[in-house]
Amino acid sequence: MCDTSADVSGGGGEGVRLCSMRSAILIIILGLIAGPSFSSGDIKRDSRSAIKKELAKPVVRGGIVFKNYCIVCHGERGDGLARAAKLHGITNLTIKPQSIKYYNKIIREGGAAVGRSEFMPPWGDELSKEQINDVVSYLMVVGDTMYRGEVVFKTNCILCHGIKGDGKGRAAILYDPPPADLTRSDKNDQYKRMIITFGGEAMGRSSVMPIWGEQLSEQEINDVIAYLRTLLVKE
Ligand code: HEC
Ligand code: HEC
Repeated sequence: MCDTSADVSGGGGEGVRLCSMRSAILIIILGLIAGPSFSSGDIKRDSRSAIKKELAKPVVRGGIVFKNYCIVCHGERGDGLARAAKLHGITNLTIKPQSIKYYNKIIREGGAAVGRSEFMPPWGDELSKEQINDVVSYLMVVGDTMYRGEVVFKTNCILCHGIKGDGKGRAAILYDPPPADLTRSDKNDQYKRMIITFGGEAMGRSSVMPIWGEQLSEQEINDVIAYLRTLLVKE
């Protein structure tokens, strides 16, 4: 798991750092977007622009901002169940439904500016206007396991499994056996949890399916499994 809660004693963003593994994967994805296209085989794989479009969705980008800067206090589900909450003895860290305007103001200017706790830092200097808009989009859905899982899937899995989970990712051609078509998986949630957490090799499958147990939290794995359920096509 990416530990972003190393040190928040300053109340600011100093202790909050990017998860390097996550960044590495993003760089690979971005590299593939920018790089030369793979020679096209018979199956129709995701286009570069389609991937770019997915990753540019405000909710997806906002999910990354939230993970890097906010979960340390507000928790992965925005319900205030975070380690820093215990540290500060703060009980009021749940993100409640509010207007977009209010969200923008408290995020940009901090809690004190709206008569709330000064433990909510101002982010206006650290985050761009776009990042703040993105994270506000994410706040609207942070309580929903399916949306959280979508962010996990889009930021970690689509390169191999494809945007739709159909196994037609841009890198799919590199692997034999190919990344599984998750829209037609006959495996149950328990099996998926195992292969996602421990990787393909541990399950007697291809070692190309990475071990995610170190990069993703239990919550993220549960969320992505919930999202995978929505991708299943009923035949
Ligand atoms: C160091 C801890 C900390 C971090 C990091 C933090 N917050 Fe907060 N946040 C708080 C506290 C404390 C409050 C509650 C203020 C109160 O209730 O008086 C709060 C309140 C909020 C609220 C208002 C919730 C409501 O329902 O009124 C929003 C929205 C919010 N934070 C968004 C964010 C976002 C987005 C980030 C990341 C960019 C973030 N916070 C990072 C501590 C933090
Ligand atoms: C580097 C490519 C790659 C990435 C990235 C990747 N996978 Fe896989 N995955 C595979 C391959 C290859 C298989 C098939 C292994 C086999 O058949 O032996 C697989 C199999 C699976 C299976 C088993 C499905 C079934 O029906 O048997 C699940 C579930 C799965 N992956 C989920 C994920 C999730 C969730 C992510 C992102 C967090 C992810 N994978 C990222 C390559 C990848």
